[in-house]
Amino acid sequence: MKTLIRNIGKLVGIVPEGTLRKEGVEMGKVETLDNAWLMTDGDKILSFGTGSHPGDGCITEDLLTIDAEGGYVMPSFCDSHSHIVYAGSRYGEFRDKIDGLTYEQIAARGGGILNSADLLHETSEEELFRQSLGRAVEVMYKGTGAMEIKSGYGLNTEDELKMLRVIRRLRASLPIEIRATFLGAHAVGRAYAGRQGEYVDMVCREMLPAVADQGLADFVDVFCDRGFFTPEETMQILDAAQVFGLRGKIHANELAVSGGVQAGVSRGALSVDHLEQTTDAEMKVLEGTDTMPVMLPGASFFSCLPYGRAKDFIRGGLGVALASDYNPGSSPSGDMRFIMALGCIQMKLTPEESFNACTLNGAYAMGISRLAGSVTPGKLANLIITEPLPDLAFIAYSHHTPFIKHLIVRGKQL
Ligand code: NIG
Ligand code: FE
Repeated sequence: MKTLIRNIGKLVGIVPEGTLRKEGVEMGKVETLDNAWLMTDGDKILSFGTGSHPGDGCITEDLLTIDAEGGYVMPSFCDSHSHIVYAGSRYGEFRDKIDGLTYEQIAARGGGILNSADLLHETSEEELFRQSLGRAVEVMYKGTGAMEIKSGYGLNTEDELKMLRVIRRLRASLPIEIRATFLGAHAVGRAYAGRQGEYVDMVCREMLPAVADQGLADFVDVFCDRGFFTPEETMQILDAAQVFGLRGKIHANELAVSGGVQAGVSRGALSVDHLEQTTDAEMKVLEGTDTMPVMLPGASFFSCLPYGRAKDFIRGGLGVALASDYNPGSSPSGDMRFIMALGCIQMKLTPEESFNACTLNGAYAMGISRLAGSVTPGKLANLIITEPLPDLAFIAYSHHTPFIKHLIVRGKQL
């Protein structure tokens, strides 16, 4: 089934086949085409060009046509870091936070991630799926066409598997592209309190083989930070995961310069994420590697943490991806347009840099940039058709004005 999107004011985010990420000055460039059409075939982008349509031969009777009415057509957002499978919420901690407690103080009192783990334990798999589906649908309608989802609120084998099964079910239930990350080392489960080393051994010997055996994860993650897991423990888990072919996506440098970037890079991690606290040494370590630095401005915003040094990274020739970190504790929002806006407003990225960080580089950071993240023939037709816009900057500038006119996911209009 072919669909023609015609009357496109500007086709945005055109990337040649084979360009899997943008780095340095390339991040400031977004290729566009004015007065364009785009043809999809099944779930993929087939072709595009300028003018009103591809030529008379292509207009068949069964061709579906969508009039973009002069709006932009852009790739949908690729959110490479989220924790949307969780039970309930943590609005009580929000009150504590307003009263002055930090994320670390809340965690040290036994709240935070452990609080979510208790709630998840008491919640049935069906109910967990229902709540998580609501969040996934919410972000899909906000323009996210691909997302990564982590486990990490189970903290025992049964509950981690329960979370990963829910992610698998989301994957089967929704048209957006979903990747699953096993984050057993998000915190030490209550049953192992005071026995962190034993917990890490259990993650490696019991959880990982079970997860891999059931094919439930694409990646492995560790919360490598002050008060959580050490670089040595992170490398131990990454080494154990490598046996099962699972590559790392590491939480690093949120609360302190943790050594997590070095640990991740030493084991060929696909991404190192957070980076609110980063020195020049981490930038040096990332140079010339396949590891994508991912920054999470929604967590900086909500948790009142510094924003990552995205501009310095880009000046240093590195690429950067931005993601939502949608989770109940440090970033209860998955709105990637808001993330793009924070990239501009708080991190001083140009709209073009922020756009690339939220699309192609996000796709790279979840291993799907051959499939998503740009307007490229052969990639998934996951597209946003916008209201007419004066400039790409308007998406971030007027970040609460509705801008989505139509959403296309796998070639079909939502
Ligand atoms: O990315 N920092 C670790 N994990 C999440 C927060 C999880 C939570 O507080 O529930 C994050 O910010
Ligand atoms: Fe996170």
